[in-house]
Amino acid sequence: MKRIQDCTISKITWLNTDSYLLELDVPDEIPVLAPGQFAEIRIGNSPDVFLRRPFSFLDADVENRKLVFFIKRIGKGTRHLGELHPGETVNIIYPLGNHFQVPEKGNVLIVGGGSGIAPFILLGKELQKKGVGMTFLLGGKAGSDILLTDRFSQYGDVLITTEDGSKGEKGMVTDHSVFTSDPFPFTMIYACGPEPMMKAVARMSCLKNIPCEVSLENLMACGFGVCLCCIVETTEGNLCVCTEGPVFNTNRLKWQICA
Ligand SMILES: Cc1cc2nc3c(=O)[nH]c(=O)nc-3n(C[C@H](O)[C@H](O)[C@H](O)COP(=O)(O)OP(=O)(O)OC[C@H]3O[C@@H](n4cnc5c(N)ncnc54)[C@H](O)[C@@H]3O)c2cc1C
Ligand code: FES
Repeated sequence: MKRIQDCTISKITWLNTDSYLLELDVPDEIPVLAPGQFAEIRIGNSPDVFLRRPFSFLDADVENRKLVFFIKRIGKGTRHLGELHPGETVNIIYPLGNHFQVPEKGNVLIVGGGSGIAPFILLGKELQKKGVGMTFLLGGKAGSDILLTDRFSQYGDVLITTEDGSKGEKGMVTDHSVFTSDPFPFTMIYACGPEPMMKAVARMSCLKNIPCEVSLENLMACGFGVCLCCIVETTEGNLCVCTEGPVFNTNRLKWQICA
């Protein structure tokens, strides 16, 4: 069941000049959160941000009733949120959306770019519970964009690419040498990040003939399937990312990646 709650900010931790962790104290018990689900956060007290903004759960501490979000500052809402202080409250609606499918076995590749790394700590936890092997591939423009590697390395190996070559291999995520491994050691790929990155990763999954799930970050307004501003074209027609997603198997998306 969805909850609408005022939560108190307990901590904001800046990780670089434009990304931060937002930690919220939740008044009631936290329900089970599946990897890929998200919350709509109302950026209260901002004179010019009216609509809630969607953010994936980075982590949840059920015992201490804390929710953690990883947020990249890109516009008014994410800037204002990062300027709030511990003790102030934000109103959230959660949990929203569907989630990544977690296989019973296998060895998966998890590709994250920009704020797209957010859903992958919860995914790592679920995969680890099932004994599924995983490797994270994190991409950014420069080394300072590669964040939370210590957290990801608790669940699997961490590979890195940067466009300027300052950390890991130089290039885009799909330029990483892991994609030339023969045989390709992974049974499934998950991706979240900028759409061109997800399309390139999905194309790789086609070439390797393995399934791929992506978490789409379409612009959203209502978060409830009413305003239709988050539509994505799929093989079943136009679907709302907020209610039918945000996670889709790429074979459902009309991205023509296998052409
Ligand atoms: C399901 C879901 C989960 C998300 N999870 C996270 C997360 O965990 N961490 C995180 O940092 N971000 C996440 N996002 C993206 C986040 O919601 C947007 O960055 C945020 O709403 C931007 O708000 P803003 O007011 O700062 O920017 P705005 O002022 O609204 O926009 C600034 C500029 O960015 C563009 N923009 C806004 N939103 C997006 C978007 N989603 N994709 C591409 N361009 C956009 C606008 O068109 C505009 O040009 C998620 C999005 C979705 C749909
Ligand atoms: S955000 Fe309104 S329909 Fe999806």
